[in-house]
Amino acid sequence: MMKPLQIALDGPAGAGKSTIAKTLAKKLGYVYIDTGAIYRAVTYRALNEHVGLEDGPALAAMIAEMDLRLVPSESGQRVFDGATEVTDLIRSSEVTNNVSFVARQPEVRDALMDLQRDLAKEGGIVMDGRDIGTHVLPGADLKVFMTATVEERARRRHDENVSKGLPSDLEQLQREIALRDKRDSEREVAPLRQADDAHYLDTTKLSIDGVVEAIERLMKQVVKR
Ligand code: CDP
Ligand code: CDP
Repeated sequence: MMKPLQIALDGPAGAGKSTIAKTLAKKLGYVYIDTGAIYRAVTYRALNEHVGLEDGPALAAMIAEMDLRLVPSESGQRVFDGATEVTDLIRSSEVTNNVSFVARQPEVRDALMDLQRDLAKEGGIVMDGRDIGTHVLPGADLKVFMTATVEERARRRHDENVSKGLPSDLEQLQREIALRDKRDSEREVAPLRQADDAHYLDTTKLSIDGVVEAIERLMKQVVKR
């Protein structure tokens, strides 16, 4: 049997990372790990407990008190902080628009590194995030840097909201995504960037199936190596 691989998918918001990672994990019988959910859960708790979103040491102390658990599920991944399930709560626009402030604190990134590596250590995982190929799993078997134009990514989020019957403003989404990308790319610690050994995949004109097929082709090259 093929050795269970570590697959790292990085890229900006709305590139399709979680959709593709979930689909791929299901096809391969792998575990899907959404690292953005970890930063979101920390942000959610900091907002609730009024911990400064740019106070690295205070956030690290709060993280030390948290019992964060990512549990694989049929629909992807459930997230718990202690006994409380926060899977849906961490998707609010308040969390979305504040998470990159929290994520740029070095103390926060340090405090969350071991948890992420531990989740990946057995292989057989598809992990998505911003710095998986560059920092969390520098030795991953396959690294893909997925992206799409900001217009396309905002349109995808907009369509998603509309299909769920949620209010959505395309131009506002585009502004928010561009701002979050800027904060994620310009931060000093572990910025969003393509690892030197990552494959670049522009998904602007690709369907979900097209992206999955492209990654499966890359996987075959890894297996042959
Ligand atoms: O799904 P979406 O693209 O909206 O974002 P996400 O993957 O849930 O990530 C939320 C935020 O967490 C990002 O905008 C980053 O600020 C941060 N993040 C990070 O810094 N490093 C990661 N490995 C994953 C997420
Ligand atoms: O995780 P990330 O923020 O990178 O993106 P996502 O949450 O997977 O959202 C991408 C959205 O675009 C989903 O609604 C997908 O159905 C859609 N989409 C895609 O992921 N890939 C394509 N090639 C085309 C559309």
